[in-house]
Amino acid sequence: MDKIIVHGGATLAGSVRISGSKNSALPILAATLLTREPCTISRVPDLSDIHYMLTILSELGCEVERASGTVTVKAEKIRTVAPYDIVRKMRASVCILGPLLGREREAMVSLPGGCVIGDRPIDIHLKGFEALGATTLVEEGNVKMRAPNLRGTTVNLRGKFGSTVLGTDNIMMAAVLAEGTTIIDGAAEEPEVVDLANFLIKMGAQIEGAGTRRIIIEGVKELHGAKHEVIPDRIEAGTFLIAGAMAGREVTLTRTNPEHLQSLIVPLTKAGVSITSQADTVTVKSNGTCRPLHLETLPYPGFPTDMQAQVCAMLATTDGISVITENVFPHRFMHVAELKRMGANIELQGPTAIVNGVRKLSGAPVMASDLRASAALLLAGLQAEGTTEVNRVYHIDRGYESIDDKLNSLGAHIERVKA
Ligand code: UD1
Repeated sequence: MDKIIVHGGATLAGSVRISGSKNSALPILAATLLTREPCTISRVPDLSDIHYMLTILSELGCEVERASGTVTVKAEKIRTVAPYDIVRKMRASVCILGPLLGREREAMVSLPGGCVIGDRPIDIHLKGFEALGATTLVEEGNVKMRAPNLRGTTVNLRGKFGSTVLGTDNIMMAAVLAEGTTIIDGAAEEPEVVDLANFLIKMGAQIEGAGTRRIIIEGVKELHGAKHEVIPDRIEAGTFLIAGAMAGREVTLTRTNPEHLQSLIVPLTKAGVSITSQADTVTVKSNGTCRPLHLETLPYPGFPTDMQAQVCAMLATTDGISVITENVFPHRFMHVAELKRMGANIELQGPTAIVNGVRKLSGAPVMASDLRASAALLLAGLQAEGTTEVNRVYHIDRGYESIDDKLNSLGAHIERVKA
């Protein structure tokens, strides 16, 4: 297994180009199943999760071509069965359920395995499909669905942890080909949901309200091929913002969308970090002294759970006591034990982390446990004294395109050791 060695203490400066969004590209690629005609998606990041999705599409019978960041998918004839060995590697593979049901009125997709950031059920997805008229059965590890009559309806997708992103995507993708009008209440408002809706509209879907809590979909008979460019990855951008705030003289993110980063820019500014933005660039300057923060993760436009671990790494060396409450995935704190091994002083009280900032972290061998936790360990390593060895880096390759090269281009000293 590859590992990443971070030599701490470098100062970052320069500019870094942000990649296309993983969390937009995954459902958008799944949505190409909704038409027999070819679709061309550009700015698709080169990540292992994207590779898994392209493999799933091929296994379902699609013709898939990829040339650098552009992917063409032609789903002329498709199968509706996705067994365990093709979906098990990625939880987001559940987002093929909606398009398969919408187009073929049936699907049998194996449930992806457990996930380290806690139990991640799909009960709300199933509730939405059932409201559209599907019968759903979870049997032998598979979700089996049939809906000879897929009909529009009103459904509320809000769960006890708030809205569901892939759940909203899934119901939207089924409803675009249902008969009549579907109203999704309690919809996720994330920019990635809006990006998917924009792609579906280019394919001929009738959707209003994406980006708000109520999405209205008027079903159409069929969709056609379309071209689409994926939005910038706000979590990758946010991670580089934190890197700049922790270790940067002046770091500029290019080809990003500052509006999508406001929930991070506002607290960082409050903490004393200087951030300026223009049309599609954001510049962060650190004066080396941050103030502690009180944060809680919430669905968009709240502070993103996908940035919680990285901010935790930053606050670990911010003088004073910071408090972070995780409302979306209350168990998402695997990074804490590893940060403590590097000298951080963090106490967990249920879904809340009390971070008592220390002057310095010290390099140590650490274990990446999930995608964003591994980014947090890289960030901690950049600032730590000595050398940090991050093991199991396949987690980071799921969601960050060439993060080591990008950080090195800003002046970091990171080596990747191939297994
Ligand atoms: C997406 C993102 C992930 C991000 C998460 C929250 C993708 C590929 N992944 O994941 O990076 O961390 O949004 O912003 O876009 N829930 C249920 N029942 C369900 C569905 C969800 O209880 O049927 C719960 C989850 O356990 C969690 C909360 O709802 O507590 C939000 O999860 P959800 O928005 O669905 O996450 P994903 O869409 O899977």
